Amino acid sequence: MGSSGPWLHRADGRRILDGSSGLLCVNVGQSSPKVLARIEQQFAQYSFGGAAVVQPHIQMELMGRLCCAVGRPEDSVALTTCGTLGVEVAVGLARNITRVRNGKRRGDILTSDLSYHGNSALTLALAGNHARRPRPDDALGLAPAFPAPYPPTHSHDGRACDAACADEVAKAIDSRGAENVAAVLIEPVNGTTGGAYVPPDGYLRRVSEICREQGILVIHDEVLTGLWRTGTPLAGNHWDGTEPDLVILSKGLGAGYVGVGAVLVSPEIAPLLRHKDVDPLPAMGTMATHPLMAAACLGVLDELESLDFGAFTARGERLGAALRTLNDSGHVRDVRGLGHLYGVEVTPGLLWPLMEAAEQRGVFFYPFTGAGHPRSEGLVVAPPLNSTDEDITFLIAALRAAVAALDGNG
Ligand SMILES: Cc1ncc(COP(=O)(O)O)c(C=O)c1O
Repeated sequence: MGSSGPWLHRADGRRILDGSSGLLCVNVGQSSPKVLARIEQQFAQYSFGGAAVVQPHIQMELMGRLCCAVGRPEDSVALTTCGTLGVEVAVGLARNITRVRNGKRRGDILTSDLSYHGNSALTLALAGNHARRPRPDDALGLAPAFPAPYPPTHSHDGRACDAACADEVAKAIDSRGAENVAAVLIEPVNGTTGGAYVPPDGYLRRVSEICREQGILVIHDEVLTGLWRTGTPLAGNHWDGTEPDLVILSKGLGAGYVGVGAVLVSPEIAPLLRHKDVDPLPAMGTMATHPLMAAACLGVLDELESLDFGAFTARGERLGAALRTLNDSGHVRDVRGLGHLYGVEVTPGLLWPLMEAAEQRGVFFYPFTGAGHPRSEGLVVAPPLNSTDEDITFLIAALRAAVAALDGNG
């Protein structure tokens, strides 16, 4: 028997619940009939159409459908083959747009010191994932620019972070000189680096305001959070006034069926990419607009849009409420997150025993280990978005039992 929905079938015959959607990407589960139907239909029509020379119809259909799904129907879209390339393309587009608009020096991309934006030489050098930072000689002279508004990186003598932490972004812009900065690149909700940290209310709005005042673009990296992972089409939708100029999507769009990335560009700035003085644009890669990839993505959107959103929202809330009760166990230091994305931070040393105990009880979880000093680590709890009530109940019970089993280790 093969894997289906959120259930993985192991070689030894046991089935195991995929508590982190693979690498936070298998958002509509395995073996989706809707995805299969779309790929089969497309296969019979044509399987390659190089976007540099033609505009495959199915690509245009995907771009339009995607923009509507995330509530940005007027956006322009560039497709890529993964999240990292989406970030690279967004960086290239942002530099072009700000240079045409505000002057040629703009090239700096500012990121936070608790962030992950992909595994190319550029994105690793830009981002603040301690576990993955290149050695200084290899970092292209780049480093994260401002502290993220979360406890491991930003302390206030016991006071919690709040919207005023956005002043750190303003300081970083001032120290570089606004005339040198193209964009602030930010994960609206932190992914696997810190483990689903949610920014303080008002923070993202303030970041957007600061950037707008200085002619700097805001790029939301929604590679992990996009397409309902946090309960809304985009994680940025949880707060008013945060609208980014560019949005990068990836994991939830291909949903583990295909490698894909998409960069959405707002209608206010997209026309600048056609300006006569624009620098060479980051070109589409060979496979960037593969028709079978687009077909799979349309199948994923079919799955997502057929969710019963009331029940889906309630399931995410029930999951979050149940996870928060683990705080009382003595082994769990913090639970954060929203929708179908949570970080369960554990006492140092207990992460691997907990993962093993959970797997013995039938649930697989992906760890987060990237938050630097003081170190924080734990499980990312992020089941497929079409998990049933029973699946979520199973996950909660297995994790609770796994945490209880740590008593011998704690
Ligand atoms: C926030 C974020 N950005 C970018 C990436 C890179 O995406 P990919 O692994 O598809 O290249 C990831 C992957 O984990 C991510 O979580």
